[in-house]
Amino acid sequence: MTNISTNIGNLKLNKCIYNASGPLCTSLNELIDLNNSSTPCILTKSCTLENRVGNPIPRYYDNHIGSINSMGLPNQGIKYYITCSKDITKPYIISVGGLNLNEITTILSNILVAIKLDENINGIEINLSCPNIIGKGQLAYDMKDLEYYLTTIFNILNYHTVSKNKPIIGIKLPPYFDIHQFSNVCDIICKFPLDFITCINSIGNGLIIDPINETTFIKPKNGMGGIGGRYIKPTGLSNVRNFYLELKKRNSQIKIIGCGGIENGIDAFEYILCGATAVQIGTTFHKEGVGCFERISNELIVIMNDKKYTNLNDFRGNLQII
Ligand code: DHB
Repeated sequence: MTNISTNIGNLKLNKCIYNASGPLCTSLNELIDLNNSSTPCILTKSCTLENRVGNPIPRYYDNHIGSINSMGLPNQGIKYYITCSKDITKPYIISVGGLNLNEITTILSNILVAIKLDENINGIEINLSCPNIIGKGQLAYDMKDLEYYLTTIFNILNYHTVSKNKPIIGIKLPPYFDIHQFSNVCDIICKFPLDFITCINSIGNGLIIDPINETTFIKPKNGMGGIGGRYIKPTGLSNVRNFYLELKKRNSQIKIIGCGGIENGIDAFEYILCGATAVQIGTTFHKEGVGCFERISNELIVIMNDKKYTNLNDFRGNLQII
C-alpha cells in the first residue's frame, strides 16, 4: 500500500497535501467544506486581532498560468477562528497575520489561552511575509526584524507553555532570490524551536495587465499584487531545495512545507523530491475547490506506484544533480 502520510513536529497527517492560507479558508462555511474534504488538516486565512474588510475590489485575478492578489488581509479576527475550532474535527492550524509585533503577540496569547482551555487548535503558522498591506513591506526580508520578531514571539510562547496539546509552530516565509539569503535566514531560524517553515508566500508586488483594455486587473497598490500559481513554481522549488540543504547542514529538525504553483501530482512529487515534508495548495484550490486535494493526492500515489516508492521517505530530498 502506498503511504503518503507525514509528520510535522508532533502532528501526524494521514496525507501530505493540504490547503494554503489564503483562498477559501476565511469563513466558517469554507472551513467546514475543508473539514468535509480529503485535506488532512485545515489552515485558516491569516488573521488579525479584529476583523478586516481588506483592500478595495477587484483584488484577485487569475488566468491559465497563475494568479495575482492584493486582498489586504480580509478576515474575521482571531476570536472567530478560535470559535470555529469547535466545528472542526481535523487537525486545525491557525495562520496568524497581525499588522505589527504587538498585534502578533496578542493574537498568540489568545490562541495559547484557548489551547489551555482544550480548544481543538493543533498548530500555528505565523505569516511573516504578507505583501499586500498598504504602507508596509514584507517583514522577513529584513534579517534584524526577523530575529527580533522570533525572539519576542518565542518569549510569549514560552511564557504560556502548554505541556499537553502542544501546537506545532512555524513561519510562512517570502520567496528569497539571492543565494546568500538562505544561509542568513537559517542562521536565525535555527536559534528557535520552530517545527516548520512554509516556503513560499506569493512573489510580492508583481504586475499582470490587460492589454485589450490597457488596465491593471486589480485595483489596490497601483495594480500590483502577490503572484501565485504556475508563474512561481521554479522559485518555490528553489526555496525549498536551498532551505533543505542549509537546514540539513545544520542538523536541524525544522521541516519544510512547500507551496507555490502546485497543480498536480507531478508538482507535489517535485516539491517532496526537493525536500518538502508536506505541500500546500493555493491558486489551484481557489480555481478548483476542495476536490483538488483528493485529485492531487491520487496523482501523487500513481507516480509513487510507478516508481515503486511506498512512502515519502523513499524519495524526500533525493534530488540528484545531473
Ligand atoms: C494576504 C496575502 C498574502 O500573501 C498573505 O501572506 C497574507 C494576506 C492578503 O492580501 O490578504
